[in-house]
Amino acid sequence: MLKSLKLGVAALALTAGVAHAEDVEVLHWWTSGGEAAALNVLKDDLSGQGIGWQDMPVAGGGGTQAMTVLRARVTSGNPPTAVQMLGFDIQDWAQEGALADLNIQAGLEGWDSVVPEALQRFAKHDGKWVSAPVNVHSTNWVWANKAVLDELGIDVPQTWDEFVAALEKVKAAGKTPIAHGGQAWQDATVFDAVAMSTGGPEFYQKAFIDLDPDALGSGTMKEAFDRMAVIREHVDDNFSGRDWNLATAMVINGDAAFQMMGDWAKGEFLNAGKTPNEDFLCFRFPGTQEQVTFNADQFAMFAQGPEVGKEQAALATAILSPSFQSAFNVVKGSVPARTDVSDEAFDACGKKGMADLKAAAASGNLYGSMAHGHANPAAVKNAMYDVITAHFNGEYDSETAVEEMVSAVEIAQ
Ligand code: GAL
Repeated sequence: MLKSLKLGVAALALTAGVAHAEDVEVLHWWTSGGEAAALNVLKDDLSGQGIGWQDMPVAGGGGTQAMTVLRARVTSGNPPTAVQMLGFDIQDWAQEGALADLNIQAGLEGWDSVVPEALQRFAKHDGKWVSAPVNVHSTNWVWANKAVLDELGIDVPQTWDEFVAALEKVKAAGKTPIAHGGQAWQDATVFDAVAMSTGGPEFYQKAFIDLDPDALGSGTMKEAFDRMAVIREHVDDNFSGRDWNLATAMVINGDAAFQMMGDWAKGEFLNAGKTPNEDFLCFRFPGTQEQVTFNADQFAMFAQGPEVGKEQAALATAILSPSFQSAFNVVKGSVPARTDVSDEAFDACGKKGMADLKAAAASGNLYGSMAHGHANPAAVKNAMYDVITAHFNGEYDSETAVEEMVSAVEIAQ
């Protein structure tokens, strides 16, 4: 039934000149310059195999809007064939029985032995591979304009106090210390790093992964909110609603010194022709040098019948191929979702990203990002977003934010 519906839709689309039955229709939120450049690597790979690409972009970092559009498409009986997805969202859709089984490709290509455990936990459901991991990003990075730091005599800050001193110096020089976009997912991305730095990995685990009410309501949580208030004092007046890549552009242009953002920001620097350690610096948020809060983009295939579609299988195979993993992630700013890809083609930040990920996984310092759907399901994540954003915009003081955090998480579970 589903299949004939799909065929009917495809035939209709064909007459309308929109899509062919062998096209993949891909829903994603990679709309910035750097993201689009990375996506082209995938599109080119598929077109080389004669598979067409029907683009379904839904702007909005972190994918919140994309997930809303997805829900509407599925509800109307017309899901896209492939969808960019993060962590718990993959598991939620798999739980609903909506995703195609990729076990045949995974078995033939040995995914089990090359994809890190931390990713398999999201890519597999009930022993079945249900998505193809593209990359590993991490959220606890700071991106800095090197010329601005050099001019002001600022060294890479190692601690929160050094970071605050650097922010003050930039402010005194009349520049914007932190480029930030006031959108809930961006506020939460900053909070990921601030909370990890404030409370350390045990606190992060208890509060954001275990949802322990004591940790959520702790003095450490209040301290994390107090630090967010300090960050808030060092963003410019026009931060509200700004897209993340426009914030990155402020650092690229030297209008701002720092941006706290996941390593997709590097894609923007590269797209602007900038070089790490010459034009810009990448370093872990002060106090999180040992930790990696990760998120991995994956493509889940929506089931169109009992078997995975030919074009869906080809997409999954293309994504997992070692050469694609290198070529794509070099451009995207992320690191490969396979452990057997050489770091040779990667720049200094990419090499650091790969080494940090390996070290963090080995030492128990690898944690799923709260802000990017790898610590908890969407309901909890969104509840946290609301509190973090309300606090960032001055609606709650830190004490109220802590209380709200405890109750919002309790209600969301
Ligand atoms: C993240 C995603 C990244 C990145 C970012 C901003 O959720 O994992 O690939 O593109 O959003 O759009």
